[in-house]
Amino acid sequence: MKKVIITGATSGIGYALAKEFHSRGYIVGITGRREKRLLQLAEELGHERVFIQTLDVTARDVHEKLDSLADAMDGVDIFVANAGVGYVTRTLDLAKDRHIIDVNVTGFVATVCWAAQKFTEQKHGHIVGISSVASTFYSGVTAAYNASKAFVCSYLMGIRLMFKTQKLPVFVTEVRPGFVESEMVEGQKGMFWVAKTSVAAYQMVEAVERKKKVVYITSRWRIVAWLGTMAGWFNKGL
Ligand SMILES: NC(=O)c1ccc[n+]([C@@H]2O[C@H](COP(=O)([O-])OP(=O)(O)OC[C@H]3O[C@@H](n4cnc5c(N)ncnc54)[C@H](OP(=O)(O)O)[C@@H]3O)[C@@H](O)[C@H]2O)c1
Repeated sequence: MKKVIITGATSGIGYALAKEFHSRGYIVGITGRREKRLLQLAEELGHERVFIQTLDVTARDVHEKLDSLADAMDGVDIFVANAGVGYVTRTLDLAKDRHIIDVNVTGFVATVCWAAQKFTEQKHGHIVGISSVASTFYSGVTAAYNASKAFVCSYLMGIRLMFKTQKLPVFVTEVRPGFVESEMVEGQKGMFWVAKTSVAAYQMVEAVERKKKVVYITSRWRIVAWLGTMAGWFNKGL
């Protein structure tokens, strides 16, 4: 039975991913700051093949907590770095931008480094990072968020190359969702092609099982990514 650890499994995409992996027979390690939600999810999964660990990806004890979760699960094969935050701001807001960088960049690196170290030692594994279509363009109202996701994209490409150079069978999948129903985007105006979390999670797990390098969720968001990249080349935001 394969074992997967997911960060940010207390709501939205992470919650749905835990359910999707679990329904396919995986042992799931679910993490997040809200313990009540973790307990609720464990209950939904029938307390079978599920391990919980409260985890703040920005805290100093990230590695200790992930070690203890992996020990309880007796190993890990797939690590999903999903925890993230985002805000729409019409003027620059240092506190919000710092929060985005703390969670989406520093917290992301802290957890992915843990997984990379673990998979290097055991000589197998699969790292999945949730980036965004937003990584491919820039925006005047989500500047820090888009920049944080561009970091995620570049970092994952880098570590994929690193494992390749080291000839280690560690796979890296970058997931680029468009809009997906979740707390993060609740009430946000102007959304389109919004995917249900269950549909998004199904497509993400399919891509992970096929060991895809990059996947758009849903696939039509590739068009927006292409337009965004073009607009970037011509120095115009989307
Ligand atoms: N929804 C979309 O349209 C969309 C599109 C593209 C990409 N994404 C990405 O998908 C990922 C999941 O987001 P979502 O849409 O599912 O939003 P969400 O429902 O708000 O979920 C965010 C998750 O991140 C966790 N989190 C936030 N801060 C954390 C911290 N300091 N430490 C640990 N966990 C933390 C939250 O758990 P706790 O609060 O319990 O810690 C929660 O489980 C994010 O990386 C987001 O950028 C979402």
